[in-house]
Amino acid sequence: FKTYRIATIPGDGIGPLDFTELDWSTARYKKTGKYMPDDGLNVLKTFDAGIFGAVGAPEAPDLISLWNLLLAIRGPMQLYANVRPVKNSPKLPSLLRGVEDGDIDWLLVRENSEGECRGQGGRTHRGTPWEAATERIMRFAFDTARSHPRKLLTVVTKSNAMLNGMVLWDEVAAEVAREYPDVKWDKMLVDAMTVRMAANPESLDTIVGTNLHIDILSDLAAALAGSIGIAASSNLDPTRKNPSLFEPVHGSAFDITGKGIANPVATLWSASKMLD
Ligand code: IPM
Ligand code: MN
Repeated sequence: FKTYRIATIPGDGIGPLDFTELDWSTARYKKTGKYMPDDGLNVLKTFDAGIFGAVGAPEAPDLISLWNLLLAIRGPMQLYANVRPVKNSPKLPSLLRGVEDGDIDWLLVRENSEGECRGQGGRTHRGTPWEAATERIMRFAFDTARSHPRKLLTVVTKSNAMLNGMVLWDEVAAEVAREYPDVKWDKMLVDAMTVRMAANPESLDTIVGTNLHIDILSDLAAALAGSIGIAASSNLDPTRKNPSLFEPVHGSAFDITGKGIANPVATLWSASKMLD
């Protein structure tokens, strides 16, 4: 299929950016048995940031490709805040009827290092990594909400039914909230949250949830805003010890590969977040 070749001319002064392409992929895995070199994380640490395309290919089971590349980076590199902005606009009409331009303007914050997706086992109690993970993502979410004009945060939970860490999640949210008296916050059960997103999109601003809950809600959010195909995300290490990784939410989409119809907005939007 057509490859677009782009000449970059960094020029002088503040112009230059230094891009390095790493061949980490299923093609590399097929050739060498490894998605990335053994010291891959150290290689990444020599960069200021990374931009990620997509992973997942017919030649490898998803569990192999994901846990050897994307998920082998997000967790171990402690990119613990996954931030997913979602907006509708006149160019991208909402799926919902009666939604005006800008009614959907959300920032979803996903706990990206622990939780359901990492088989947390005994990590659900006080003094465990789950408590630390909960506390740091709550702080990040309250800070983020505070920096938005509406200063509004919705904490997604499922503490009515999930014994697995969710009661602690709620407790930590309430504790951290005390340090942010200027942030208005509320709690929503994840099932009811799906309805609120569809019925009252303008009542939401910053949203924080666990790894799995925001994984699900961010697909819904992007679809409600018009398209999952353009959704962007940032995997951040807010401590800035490790380089953050910016990636479109969409997958490798082999069904449209080579057809010339893929929309690059998700990657461009992610790249603009990287530059921010
Ligand atoms: C996402 C994706 C990934 C995730 C998959 C591919 C492991 O769905 O970025 O939302 O669940 O994190
Ligand atoms: Mn997902």
